[in-house]
Amino acid sequence: MVSTIATLVVGATGLIAAFLLLFGLKRMSSPVTAPSGITVAGIGMLVAIGASFLYAFDVEAAARPHLPVNIALALAALALGGGFAWWSGRKVAMTAMPQMVALYNAMGGGAAGAIAGVELLGDRATGTTQLVVTLLGALIGAISFSGSIIAWAKLDGLIDKPLRLRGQQILNGAVMFLTIAIGGYIVASSIGVFAPVVTTPTAVAVFFASAAVFGILMTLPIGGADMPVVISIFNAFTGLAVGLEGYVLQNPALMVAGMVVGAAGLLLTLLMAKAMNRSVGNVVFTNFGPAAKQKRGAITGSLKPMDPSDAGIAMRYAASVIIVPGYGLAVAQGQQKLYEFVKLLQAADVKVRFAVHPVAGRMPGQMDVLLAEAGVPYDLIFQLEDINDDFAATDIVLVIGANDVVNPAARTDKASPIFGMPILNADKAKQVFVVKRGEGKGYAGIVNTLFYGENCSMVYGDAQAVLIKMIEGVRGLGLAAAA
Ligand code: TAP
Repeated sequence: MVSTIATLVVGATGLIAAFLLLFGLKRMSSPVTAPSGITVAGIGMLVAIGASFLYAFDVEAAARPHLPVNIALALAALALGGGFAWWSGRKVAMTAMPQMVALYNAMGGGAAGAIAGVELLGDRATGTTQLVVTLLGALIGAISFSGSIIAWAKLDGLIDKPLRLRGQQILNGAVMFLTIAIGGYIVASSIGVFAPVVTTPTAVAVFFASAAVFGILMTLPIGGADMPVVISIFNAFTGLAVGLEGYVLQNPALMVAGMVVGAAGLLLTLLMAKAMNRSVGNVVFTNFGPAAKQKRGAITGSLKPMDPSDAGIAMRYAASVIIVPGYGLAVAQGQQKLYEFVKLLQAADVKVRFAVHPVAGRMPGQMDVLLAEAGVPYDLIFQLEDINDDFAATDIVLVIGANDVVNPAARTDKASPIFGMPILNADKAKQVFVVKRGEGKGYAGIVNTLFYGENCSMVYGDAQAVLIKMIEGVRGLGLAAAA
């Protein structure tokens, strides 16, 4: 009787957790409902954790030796991991969010791999299907773990250029083949096709090591501009690995959460691949962008510096302005000042809109979040395909902390690592003002031909400091802010 009630409670709690996770994710699809979506999904996660503790009461007594010790260990792990996540989540700078997301993704993959490891070493995965699913989750989880750590190092600037070996694809193929062969060996020896040659722990350890090496080899050669695609692929991988291990444990919350993350990651991968104009096949088979070699001779013209206050006043007298935000705006934390400046322009009847490139910043959606944080109304924010045709008829484009996403080399220079990526057509506007601190390159590490164009002026300085001067310049004309 007690056991039946426990089974019902555990099942119902798992389903409630799964529902809350799905509902939370649905709310995250719009910036307006996203904050409450995160809270709902967080509650779902708490319910799922509660369900895992109840699970202990849903198995036979023989299956739960050392129960108090295990519960104490689980609580200690929760306090340690949860405490660290709480502390780091509060402390992390907005610009370091992409690195943090990559690290959490690595932990998700690692956790799925760890579950698989426990199942394999404890001989709990029995039967061919069970074994294959466990190993598949282990493979994907381990790749996601090591690959996401390399992605973190790249986003953090610890690895600043793609590392490619001669015969990279053959090496990657060989390591993948070895991993699958060891997986095949584990299945075959476990179900008695032949007598084991090495012990299961040794085979499992080599399997994990080989999968992790593949994750590293797969990620190291990826060029800067292709990082958005790889981040979303690992996101999908982690979800898939967690979902597969959820199946192995027959845990509905884990299955649903994993599959939802996997599906969302897959959709994001498709979107990012589309934004970079690369096929997913090209991405999966590691034919990442060629090494950055730009045609030096292609750059003509000169850089023309402009005073921030003059640039601000010029925009005040324009009829239309499009603002292109980029990673540098996040670095400068200039979003509040930017919106203050926009309100000044609007008060002077200037038509102002924001153009957001899908890979601007270092994280999908980073610019949308940044602008939302400053209170910019959503109807002022346009995505690439909705605004790209309007640049030619625009008086002034203000490129603020952005670089690669407005580089015309993507259209013309076949040797460029961003060749083929659709860019925002800033160069087609009547006038372009670019705000950046100096001659720093974008993430792809290439020169931007836009900056040398006849219609382009460079407003040097930290984005926030420049905006303050622009605001002072316009206020100096005697206009009041709208709000
Ligand atoms: P970037 O091309 O990286 O350019 C940012 C520019 O901001 C730099 O040229 C830098 O020049 C300037 N900057 C930095 N700090 C600044 C500050 N405090 N004030 C003013 N300017 C500052 O940025 P983007 O145009 O947003 O393009 C994104 C790039 O990152 C793409 O190549 C994309 O593929 C890659 N990437 C994207 C993602 C995702 S998912 N979005 C993930 C990984 C990589 P100075 O140093 O001269 O100031």
